[in-house]
Amino acid sequence: TTAPYQETFRPQFHFTPKENWMNDPNGLVYHNGEYHMFYQYNPYGDKWGHMSWGHAISKDLVHWEEQKVAIPEDEEYMIFSGSAVVDHHNTSGFGTKDNPPMVAIYTGHKQEPEKGQDQQLAYSLDNGRTWTKYAGNPVLDEGMENFRDPKVIWHEESEQWIMVVALSTDYKIAFYSSPNLKDWTFLSHFESPGSELGIWECPDLFALPIDGDEDKRKWVLEVDLGAGEEGSVAGGSGGLYFVGEFDGKQFIPDEDAMPESESGPHQWVDYGKDFYAAVSWSDVPEEDGRRIWVGWMNNWQYAQELPTSPWRSSQSIPRTLELASHDGGLKMVQEPVDELQTLRGEQKSLSNLTVTNDTRSLADWNIQGKALEMKVTFTPGNAEVVGLNLRTGNDEKTVLRYDVSEETLALDRTQSGQVDFHADFPGVHVAPLPLDNGQVELHVFIDWSSVEVFAHDGVVAISDKIFPQPDSEGVEVFVEGGSATFDRIEAWPLKSIW
Ligand code: FRU
Repeated sequence: TTAPYQETFRPQFHFTPKENWMNDPNGLVYHNGEYHMFYQYNPYGDKWGHMSWGHAISKDLVHWEEQKVAIPEDEEYMIFSGSAVVDHHNTSGFGTKDNPPMVAIYTGHKQEPEKGQDQQLAYSLDNGRTWTKYAGNPVLDEGMENFRDPKVIWHEESEQWIMVVALSTDYKIAFYSSPNLKDWTFLSHFESPGSELGIWECPDLFALPIDGDEDKRKWVLEVDLGAGEEGSVAGGSGGLYFVGEFDGKQFIPDEDAMPESESGPHQWVDYGKDFYAAVSWSDVPEEDGRRIWVGWMNNWQYAQELPTSPWRSSQSIPRTLELASHDGGLKMVQEPVDELQTLRGEQKSLSNLTVTNDTRSLADWNIQGKALEMKVTFTPGNAEVVGLNLRTGNDEKTVLRYDVSEETLALDRTQSGQVDFHADFPGVHVAPLPLDNGQVELHVFIDWSSVEVFAHDGVVAISDKIFPQPDSEGVEVFVEGGSATFDRIEAWPLKSIW
């Protein structure tokens, strides 16, 4: 039915379960023409609890079909975050070479009053439709309380499975290897003084091409910061990453690739407050070659209070990842997958609009909407501030503001609608963004309750939830302290995926 998707805040092109609580994406894996997305799910309510793996399938990364719960909790364990792979050579013996098993590697979290986390397996022989927990679980138990979120990859060079897993409260990542997904050998630890800003969760490890050259690659180790004193760049939950080498045993950060940054030895994944626990798809076919991920659009500070029902939380749009040369180092750039262009309705555009100390509505060009994609290029000229007001109406606006002297881009959601359900929700989230040839270039995705901004081909991303009234649909441009020119604005209403 389409009825539930008429709800005030129901995203139209972001995945949400039909009802109940969702957090991290889990077990992202491509198999036989289908993208699988599992996720932390409470089948019984709209707050965190009874953690199990929910499941959705897509053929195009755009339209999703929710499935029944894939891996439910049981009396002994909740099913925490983890990954999934296609075991093409049937190293695990769960399937056959003709029908290679899909294997999920997740954290078993002992049910109260027991304590402890270990790593476990479940497998599917029917394209992910049904799952069997391995009778020999757990496959990796170090007797620890905080030992979670295994990401498993096949390491081509050393022909073995590698697990990257978080020792959350020790602020460490551990690496293990295995020939068969069942027997694991400890390899090394990774830690990074200066990056202990929140407990470490949901790591990912992958090699990315540099500046589009498939023959030049470096490894990226991504780590998420959960609850903690300082938290991520915008406060609370968020991700950081390191660029370096992985030799099949350990991850060695490359200092030349990561120029000194104010934040510490790491780089930030996203400058907004709602992009957490992102993980990438396994087994995307080689001829495609993209590294694609999604993140959870939420923040543990207020996650359980979001003003939505009977569902709570959405995932981000899928984004591709690459490394690009910037400021003498390498930055991970994120861009929305091209498949999203299939949702575009009729394009509206305008060119060379000069604005002097003024705010102009784009309604004159028929640019408005609450599910809208925009590409905007402007030249600040002698202006001090140039920006866009999104989802305007009812005295509400979500402000995207470029400060020319500071060279920063900020997303301000203090007046974006419902903001006072939690003290940590309203705020201004700021990213450094030097002008590019004297211009600023933005790619913006607006949905019924979120904004995702990609600047300068994805070198900066800012992702935030917002809760404006349904008829706050306007878009304005504004300029302060001088004249600026909007060289080009393109906008597309986006169709619902439901
Ligand atoms: C991250 C996280 C993971 C854990 C899961 C539990 O959001 O805390 O570390 O596996 O959520 O739902």
